[in-house]
Amino acid sequence: MRIISIANQKGGCGKTTTAVNLGAALASNNRKVLLIDFDPQAHATVGLNVQAKISIYNCLSKLSPEKATLQDIIVNIDNNFDLAPSNIILTTLEQELANEIGRENHLQDTLSAFKNDYDYILIDCPPNLGILTVNAICASNEVIIPVEPSRFSVEGLSRLIDIIDLIQNRLNHTVSHNVLVTMFDSRLKYAFRILAELRSKFRECMFSTIIHVNVKLKESQSSGSSVMGFDKYSRGAKDYFSLAKEMLSMGKQVEKGTEFVVSKKMRELVSAHLPKLNKVTLKLDFPGAKEVYIAGDFNNWSKDPSSAMIGTNGSWNKRLSLKPGQYHYRFVVDGNWITDPGNPLQEKNPYGEYDSLLKIGA
Ligand SMILES: Nc1ncnc2c1ncn2[C@@H]1O[C@H](COP(=O)(O)OP(=O)(O)OP(=O)(O)O)[C@@H](O)[C@H]1O
Ligand SMILES: [Mg+2]
Repeated sequence: MRIISIANQKGGCGKTTTAVNLGAALASNNRKVLLIDFDPQAHATVGLNVQAKISIYNCLSKLSPEKATLQDIIVNIDNNFDLAPSNIILTTLEQELANEIGRENHLQDTLSAFKNDYDYILIDCPPNLGILTVNAICASNEVIIPVEPSRFSVEGLSRLIDIIDLIQNRLNHTVSHNVLVTMFDSRLKYAFRILAELRSKFRECMFSTIIHVNVKLKESQSSGSSVMGFDKYSRGAKDYFSLAKEMLSMGKQVEKGTEFVVSKKMRELVSAHLPKLNKVTLKLDFPGAKEVYIAGDFNNWSKDPSSAMIGTNGSWNKRLSLKPGQYHYRFVVDGNWITDPGNPLQEKNPYGEYDSLLKIGA
């Protein structure tokens, strides 16, 4: 299990592009990936075409009237690839945490209960070294530092590395860092000069993979997809596939290491003592709907923020963790209660309408 922050206080150096496309490339290598959009600009969320009413803010804020768990907010993007979305309200978390004790550990605490579900958790950080970035680094074992070879890109890197070292000294685990050269333009002489400078400065703390300038990376972001989904034969896709391969080869020790073995053992112990919960994802295609909730006897038929479904391009979904049994439910689309049109199992309710039936086996 690896938790990796993608951080650099310099804006526009390829953090989000790396988070989204590395995530997609790892997922296509059969690794379960959760991408946490931890930037109030929500570029990863928007870039993956997700509109989320509740976000990572609702998991971390004590003041939020709409509290949620990480599980509540997660949106499935593709096979093996999930997103914990962000939105602009995350900016207020900085002020909210300003005077709190243990404020650096909020994300770490939130992830600790959850991390066994994934092989990789990637955290897309905002372009500053504020409390959100510090929270992300505290929760991570690794930091990827994307650097675009330009005149000012190398300045400021030592400040970020100082902060990583400082955090590491306070934690009980190591946080390694690796520089990733992004937006490399081989037509430019000075790009080679900066590359040589970075190589001599960072040596083994630098990926051999280089991400070249490629317009498909920009286009895929505007089309709401990773570059793998947009054009898997493009240079951008090949570069991020290479980065994923390099990450996987670096990670063999981590995957086989003590932490992984212990957590697997823990997982077995915990699952032996807890009632088995099954994960089901309920889906509804309803283009044009503004808000959709799922209400049933598993949530006391309540229509609150935690029962809001997450919509992408008119397709709505909600992941539930349920004990074996039989459940009744209905969707609430813009205030109208409807039966699940995709589920033939129905039962007449006391109001003469039909509830959908969900059967979860043992
Ligand atoms: N290799 C690349 N080739 C071409 N365009 C790229 C490349 N990488 C990123 N871009 C484009 O550069 C812009 C900035 O990239 P990105 O959003 O990934 O940076 P960022 O570090 O996350 O920015 P911010 O600091 O604002 O969060 C985007 O428009 C993106 O599409
Ligand atoms: Mg970004």
